[in-house]
Amino acid sequence: QQQIKQNILMAGAVRTILPQRSPDTHKGLNGRLAVVAGSRGLSGAAAMTAEAALRAGAGLITLATPASIQNVVAVKLTEVMTTALSETATGGMSQDAVAEIAALAAKNDVVAIGPGIGRHEATVAAVRAAITTVECPLVIDADALYALIGYTDLLTECTALPVLTPHPGEMGLLTGLSAQAVNSDRVTIARQAAREWGSIVVLKGAHTIVAFPDGEVYINTTGNVGMATGGTGDALTGIIAAMIAQGMSSHDAAVAGVYVHGLAGDIAAQAGMVGMAATDLIKAVPAALYGIKN
Ligand code: APR
Ligand code: MG
Repeated sequence: QQQIKQNILMAGAVRTILPQRSPDTHKGLNGRLAVVAGSRGLSGAAAMTAEAALRAGAGLITLATPASIQNVVAVKLTEVMTTALSETATGGMSQDAVAEIAALAAKNDVVAIGPGIGRHEATVAAVRAAITTVECPLVIDADALYALIGYTDLLTECTALPVLTPHPGEMGLLTGLSAQAVNSDRVTIARQAAREWGSIVVLKGAHTIVAFPDGEVYINTTGNVGMATGGTGDALTGIIAAMIAQGMSSHDAAVAGVYVHGLAGDIAAQAGMVGMAATDLIKAVPAALYGIKN
């Protein structure tokens, strides 16, 4: 039975689940997305998550980031709106940010949380509180995953099925294994975690695994070694969230997002893999989407 639910993820499946835009669409129909990301010194992670969401077609994007870097990200991002979060003295979001995130979530279709937020204890507490407060679907990545170490039970309180995007190191921290142990049995470990946490688990790395609570698994076929550079993970978070914003189910967004992200990396790699940057991948997302559809 497990065999039946194990799928090799290729273009055909993604082509059928990517939505077709109707000619009379407008930005309000392409979804509202909030990104909670960044901290002092990590403004790039926030900017890349939001930029990737833009390139994956989200209608309206708001980036919420600690107050002292709001203007930094605002200068980086022309099309994205920004809003300030309460912060600690070291420039990470503080516990007062929980209410601000909840208010933002109420005005959006999906919230992506984690890239570049840092690991200050106030930030960790804010993430834990936000995960159980926010009512729209969540895409949880990076240091928001760190905040869940020992607290994965909180995921069962989410109103919508959350999407988690750990790399093998983060998966190891969440499961008590080494990254090497995670990589030695990726499908089984991702599948078990998805079941246990009642979440969609995207276990990244060469041949990313997408696992669902019912045991269904996809193994991705796109991507390349050029993607082993800082920021490509942040891009994936933005892409999956943008697909949810555009009305795809979290299931389909995780599957299509992983495939499209890798394909964008493959397109960017045509200019050379070594020295490829995450922003190159992000710029290639529209071409990846177009290539799958046409
Ligand atoms: N083949 C295919 N895809 C790859 C490969 C590879 N060899 N190596 C990496 N990737 C892809 C992964 O599948 C994933 O989608 O690149 C992306 C990397 O994501 P992350 O590991 O989350 O990296 P990122 O967050 O962008 O940057 C580094 O990770 O360890 C943390 O704290 C560290 O903030 C830092 C961050
Ligand atoms: Mg990452």
